[in-house]
Amino acid sequence: MRPELISIDAVVFDAYGTLFDTASAARRHAAHLGERWTALAQLWRDKQLQYTWLRALSGQWADFQTVTSDALDFAMDSLGLVDTNLHADLMHAYLTPDPFPDVADTLHRLQQSGKRLGILSNGSAPMLAAAVQHAGLEALLSAVLSVDRVRTFKPHPGVYQLAVDAFELPAHRMLFVSSNGWDAWCAKAYGFRVAWCNRGGLTPERLPASPDQTIPGLAPLPSLLR
Ligand code: LAC
Repeated sequence: MRPELISIDAVVFDAYGTLFDTASAARRHAAHLGERWTALAQLWRDKQLQYTWLRALSGQWADFQTVTSDALDFAMDSLGLVDTNLHADLMHAYLTPDPFPDVADTLHRLQQSGKRLGILSNGSAPMLAAAVQHAGLEALLSAVLSVDRVRTFKPHPGVYQLAVDAFELPAHRMLFVSSNGWDAWCAKAYGFRVAWCNRGGLTPERLPASPDQTIPGLAPLPSLLR
């Protein structure tokens, strides 16, 4: 690994897909959904992201809870699932997603090494507060930043600016970590140093800037930062 991740004072994480497993809500209802749970999880997530981009581009922002609910409506309809109680149960489960197994230990080690830590996410403030509390991460995070403040979604530069303002650091002194390739690429174009946590073994994006590092999970992060 290249040693360019020096002089980093703060590490800012994407939330959904990076710290929190977006499939966990559907997985919890796998007994009820049967084999369809994976298709539902994927369609729900894909549509959720599409709706963030479409709402941002068309100037029709709504908070992430609304977008997530609309995306679940679409995904359930696509799979022929008509069940109001299931919709409510899945939305409730989305408030307490499972953290990935490497999250708590990695954040703890980074904090021990003196880094300030934060979250920067499309998630609404209440959603993020619930997820952070469920994962027991409150004491590790200096800032939990929601797009609610700027009423648009990633990858609008105004969202990335929230982290610069909150930490009062230049972007190049911060490491942004995301499992979402498009988020990692766009955060790099904004000016952060970036680690793409490629949990899914995905194909690299073709966008103007490339991440500084690609890691398979979060565990290698502390040894990359000096
Ligand atoms: C987030 C989405 C992109 O947490 O996963 O911002």
